Formats: sequence, C-alpha cells, structure tokens
Amino acid sequence: MIKLPGLIDIHVHFRTPGQTYKEDFFTGTSAALAGGYTTVIDMPNNKVPITSLKTLEEKIKIAKKQAVCDFGFYYGSLGENLDTFTKIQKKVFGLKIYLNQTTGGYIVDEKKFETICRKWPKKLPILLHAEDDVIGQMIEIAGRAGQRIHICHISSEKELKTIINAKLKGYKVTCGVTCHHLFLNENNVKKLGPYGLMKPSIKPEKDVNFLWRHLNDIDIVESDHAPHTIDEKNSDKPPFGVPGLETTLPLLLTAVNENKLSLARLIELCYANPKRIFKVPTDKNTYVEVDENKEYIVENKNLQTKCGWSPFAGWKVRGKVKKVIIRGEKVYESGEVLVKPGFGKYVAPAILRSE
Ligand code: NCD
Ligand code: ZN
Ligand code: ZN
Repeated sequence: MIKLPGLIDIHVHFRTPGQTYKEDFFTGTSAALAGGYTTVIDMPNNKVPITSLKTLEEKIKIAKKQAVCDFGFYYGSLGENLDTFTKIQKKVFGLKIYLNQTTGGYIVDEKKFETICRKWPKKLPILLHAEDDVIGQMIEIAGRAGQRIHICHISSEKELKTIINAKLKGYKVTCGVTCHHLFLNENNVKKLGPYGLMKPSIKPEKDVNFLWRHLNDIDIVESDHAPHTIDEKNSDKPPFGVPGLETTLPLLLTAVNENKLSLARLIELCYANPKRIFKVPTDKNTYVEVDENKEYIVENKNLQTKCGWSPFAGWKVRGKVKKVIIRGEKVYESGEVLVKPGFGKYVAPAILRSE
C-alpha cells in the first residue's frame, strides 16, 4: 500500500446545471473519489455559461448540496461581463476562455481576449482552451497585459515547443496534459470511433512520444473529465469530450510501474503543482491509500461517472484506489462512497484563508 495526498483535478466538466443527464455533482465527485481526487475545479461551459454572479452562485448552491469531495469553480467570459470580474473574483480559482471550437461553442476572438486580459484581476490565472498556432498568439497577448495563463490539455509537439520557448523567454505560462493525450494515439482513435473524439484531437504517436520525453516541461496532469452519454456519442453528431477522473491515476501509476515517470513526479503533476499554481487549499488529514500492485481491467460497469463509459475500457492497469480520507473521515473504500451528498466543501483561494 502507498499513501498519496488527496489529488487535485483542476479541469472537470460536471454539466450541472443544465445537462445533469450527463453528470451531476454527486456522480462527478464520486468519480473523483474513485480516482483518488479529493478536490476538483469545474469549468464554466455549462448549457447556460457561468458568466454572471447569478449563474455562478446558483451553481455553487447546487454543488454544495451534491458533492462528496471538495470543489471549486472557474468563471467564464464572452467579453460582455467585464464589469462583473471584481464581484466574483473571491469565488473562483481563475477565468476560463475558449479560443477554439469545443463543447458549448463559447469562443472569444483575439480582440476580445485582449480586452478581457486587461480587465481580469491579476491575482488569478486565466486558463485557455487554445490549440496549435493560437497558443503562441495568446501567450503574446496575455504577456502584453501582464497576465498569468495556463494552457489546458496540450496535445502536440508543436504546442509544447511553443510553451517551452515562451517559458524560456520569461512569459508567465503553465500547461497541463490529459491522460488521453498521453496514452492514446491516432491508431487507437480508429477503433474508438466517437469515444475517441475530443478537443484537442488525439495526435500521432510521434507527438505523444514528444509529450512523454518532455514531461518535465509540463506542469499539471488534468483529466478534462468531459462526460457525454453513450446515446450522444453514438448519434450522427457525436459531441467532443471523454470522461477521465477514474482512469487518470491508474494509468499514471501503471506508467510509474513501467518506469515512464517517478512516483514523486506523479505527485507533483497531480497535487503539488495544481496546489501551488491555483492556490488550492489542502489539509494534512486528507489522503488516499492505493494498492500499487493491484492489477485490474477498466470496465464501464464499475465506473461512478453518470455517463458510464471510458475510452480506456478493456485496458489493464496496475494501481487501485482502496481508501480515501478527507479531513480525517473515511469517504470512500473499495468502490463504495461512504458519505452523503453535501459532505464536500466549496473552496476558493480567498475563502479558506479566512476560515
Ligand atoms: C470539453 C467538454 O465536453 O466540455 N470537451 C472536450 O472535447 N475536451 C470542453 C473542452 O475542454 O474543450
Ligand atoms: Zn478545452
Ligand atoms: Zn475541458
């Protein structure tokens, strides 16, 4: 058995309010516990985007009733809500901006992004969905405004090279990678069909190898847990996104077992760096017990996520979450969530400091 600190996932989509048939805060946070996560930060691309104090407060209220692990939020902007930034800044971990097409379609153009950068309070980072060449342009714009940015889910050699260069030049930029971009390549996508469809797309093996070789230049592993139903995925127009909370840690532990990264580096990517970069409050009596030698097959029927499938179904992994303890209380053991909805606490960088 090994003991890990409660992991922090800075990138999840729990779809509530608006699309609770895909996921809600109970099923989403249950999936988090099953995956060894004790804090998750939820994205604003809901059916009605979280771009006002009212929608943010509504979401916080719902999550407080449903969550079984700790949770926080990002705010969203389409460039029209600049005057709300100061009102909501104590309630969130950052601002999420979409610069390429993805679920929700809440795209902002360069001009609007520049205006947003100038208005957003400097204390909190801006997270970007930006792909390919767009990354370099946005790093420039954010740099001119003196903003700190986090590039979500990098997927290719070109993207990571852009970020490595920007870091060398002194830009305040961090980046995250998902396990689907680390463990899948174009060959898997053919078999997966719509279940391998997400943004950014899965890349050729050459790119995947580059990400692994340069893992030291990546700051965070984020799940981008993006559940959609099996029916939606099988439809004529399958939506982008795959769930990831329950497979991220087992896949990474399998890689540790294969000497592809160290356990210390895993803890940095899934706990220490998320904590430091996003100022996530943590607790010393919050931890996870893992049987690092337990081998098992990922099976859809064993998942807690409401969507009930994984692009890694059928994969053999090594390393299983046995127990999760939050603030000294056992909340999960061997596949069972042991606490009631509402146990999880709402967190934000500013709130916990005053508590
Ligand atoms: C995400 C979703 O479904 O909300 N989809 C995805 O393909 N990654 C949105 C996102 O993170 O881009
Ligand atoms: Zn995205
Ligand atoms: Zn996402």
